[in-house]
Formats: sequence, structure tokens, C-alpha cells
Amino acid sequence: MFNRGLKDVVAVHTKIASVDGELGELRYRGILVGELVPDHSFEELAYLLWHGKFPDEEELNSLKSKMRAGRRLPQHIASIIDILPKDIPLMDAIRTAISAYGQVEFKQKPIDEQAIVLTAALPVIIARHYRNVNQLPIVEPDENLSHTANFLWMLNYEKPTDVHVEALETYLKLTMEHGMNASTFAGRVTISTESDLTAAVTSALGTMKGPLHGGAPSGVIDLLEEIGTQNNIRPVIEQRLKNGERIMGFGHRVYKTEDPRSILLRKKCESMAGKDEWLDLATTAEKEIIDLLKTYKPGRELYTNVEYYAAAIMRAINMPPELFTPAFSAARIVGWTAHAIEQQGDNTIFRPQSLYVGNKF
Ligand code: ACO
Repeated sequence: MFNRGLKDVVAVHTKIASVDGELGELRYRGILVGELVPDHSFEELAYLLWHGKFPDEEELNSLKSKMRAGRRLPQHIASIIDILPKDIPLMDAIRTAISAYGQVEFKQKPIDEQAIVLTAALPVIIARHYRNVNQLPIVEPDENLSHTANFLWMLNYEKPTDVHVEALETYLKLTMEHGMNASTFAGRVTISTESDLTAAVTSALGTMKGPLHGGAPSGVIDLLEEIGTQNNIRPVIEQRLKNGERIMGFGHRVYKTEDPRSILLRKKCESMAGKDEWLDLATTAEKEIIDLLKTYKPGRELYTNVEYYAAAIMRAINMPPELFTPAFSAARIVGWTAHAIEQQGDNTIFRPQSLYVGNKF
């Protein structure tokens, strides 16, 4: 049997998450994300994905304290980031720094403890390289801030507003895990050889970098920038559709109903409406774009995908486009590490066949 790109092939049995494209459902550990995201923090959902249960108070405090410790980069990792050329793409810098975590830091640490360290360190690595590139002084982590708030603090050296922290955290929680996507699969293949978690996360980061996966939400930014004001929505979209162009942020290969993540991100945008003109424009534009897509592409069931509101939210919190894929990685590392733990718990090495179709001499 050959399925190009392993399309429709079930590669693993998992208890971590389920994605139902027909019903438009995403569940973490059996629970709809819509029920989880509003009431639980990044740290709680990470714990849920790693352990299959919610943390009690003591477990949550212990996780938070370990994450705070993980924000302090080992000296050699900080030095590696600092000597990287300034023009190296952020995803390459992150991959290089993460790959340097090894025996020294992880001696005798069980895999779930390693997952905490790598998850805590990733935003710190992103912020350090970003500030180096922009010739800004390095900002030390703030022990009093949550994982998400500290990310914004270290990027901007400015106390983030609650609105910005909530917006980013909603995005991070919604993109933590999404079944057997390419980067998660790459990580599982790596750990299946009995390699280590650092290697699995490094593989996943390398896979996430590609535009077919890590995405290019900058297309949505370009679109909203071209639209600019509410009066321009219809003429810009009609022109693009008449030119045969696709409208970025709409349509999805798996979801044939609304992407549940975009529904939740939209709610977040609506709750922030009036506080940011970008979010106002994005929410108004969505309705008009869907109507126009119905007219120009009848019967195609084109709704907003996660990229649309992710881009709008990122823009509203002043996250530069070059940080979108790194931020996505800072969320998805939870899924990668949860899958590595699951794979290690019941391992069989991945070793599919290939069919030789060349000549024989
Ligand atoms: N704008 C206009 N028309 C569209 C769009 C769109 N965004 N998406 C699909 N269509 C049309 C196609 O032109 C095609 O029309 P046709 O039948 O007249 O040829 C029809 O809908 C079906 O298109 P397919 O490419 O077969 O649909 P598929 O489900 O395979 O595509 C995809 C999914 C690639 C995401 C597509 O909807 C798209 O290109 N969207 C825009 C890019 C985008 O937002 N990407 C982010 C995806 S989310 C993520 O990766 C996390």
C-alpha cells in the first residue's frame, strides 16, 4: 500500500489529542479545547497534555517553579546564542540552541522533567536571539511573571498588559497540540530510535521551519494591511478573487467546518474589540470575506483557519511577523514532548518501506 505523503495513514495510537475535521473538533485528552482554553492556564494545559490529568495545587506550584528554573539558560547555551551571526533566521537559531541541551543539564532527569526545561527555555532562547539581532540589551527573566507574560517581557523589556498576555496565551494554548502533524511525527520518529528528547525536539523544530507547516501568517498581515480600512474590504477581496488569488487565512485541508481554534481566537478578538483597531478590522473583514467567498467560490465551504486570527492577534500585540513561527513552536513544543513521552512509553521504531521505481541494471 502506498499513500503519497502518508495521507490518511494512521501512524500511531494516541491518547493525547484528537482532531475531527468533519465535526470541527479538537480535543486535548478527550476534552474539547473550547472547554479547556478559557479556564486553564498554559501551565495547566501543558501538565494535562504531558500527564493526562490536571495538576493539583501542589503539582501546579511545583511545575511553575521548575519552569521558572528552566528560564535560566545554562551559560554555554546563552553563549552559543550570542555568537550566532545576526542574520541567521530565528528558527535556525532556536534549533541550534535547543540542540545544545544534553547530558550536562539532563543528567538523570526523567523525560517529563526534560520536557519542562525545554518548554520553559524556548521563549527565552527566542527572546535572546531576537534582541541580539536587533542590537537590544538582553532582558533577564522575571520570576514573578507567568510563562506567557515573561515571554512578552523578555521580548519587549516592557511589562505586558493583561490584554496582550491573555491574547498570546489563548493562541499558545490553542496551538499546543494538533495530532500527527509533520513536526510531531518527525519528533516521534526520532524518539522511536531510542534517541533522546533534545534530538526529538530538534527534529521537530527543523520540520516546523518549512513554510508548508510553520505557516506564513504574514500573508494574512499583508492582506489586512492592504485592506487597511473597513471600506476597502470588498474592493480588495473582489479584486484578489477576480485575479484567481486565494484569500490567506481561509480554507483548511482537514477542517471542512469552521476550524475550532479560529472560533476561539475570534471570541478572544471580540472580547478585545474596541481595544485594538486591527482586531476590529479582522473581525469585521471576516464576515464580509466569507460572504464574498460564498459568492465567488460557491459550495467550497471556506471558513477562517487558525492563521487568520492568529495573525490578527499577533499583529495586535505587536509581535513582529518573523516571530510568528518561533511563537508557534513555543506552543507546539508541549505537543512534541507529550508525544515523545507517549512514544517512549510504548515504543516501536518507525521503519516504513519504500517501493523502488527506478531502473535495474
Ligand atoms: N481563497 C479562495 N479560494 C479558495 C481558498 C481561499 N483561501 N481556499 C480554497 N479555495 C478554493 C480553491 O481555489 C478551489 O477552487 P476551485 O474548485 O474553483 O479550483 C477550492 O476552493 C478547493 O481548493 P483546494 O486547494 O482543493 O482545497 P484544500 O482544502 O486542499 O486547501 C488550503 C486547503 C491549502 C489551506 C487552502 O484553503 C488555501 O490555500 N488557503 C489559503 C492559505 C492559508 O490560509 N493557509 C493556512 C492553512 S491553516 C494551517 O496551515 C495551520
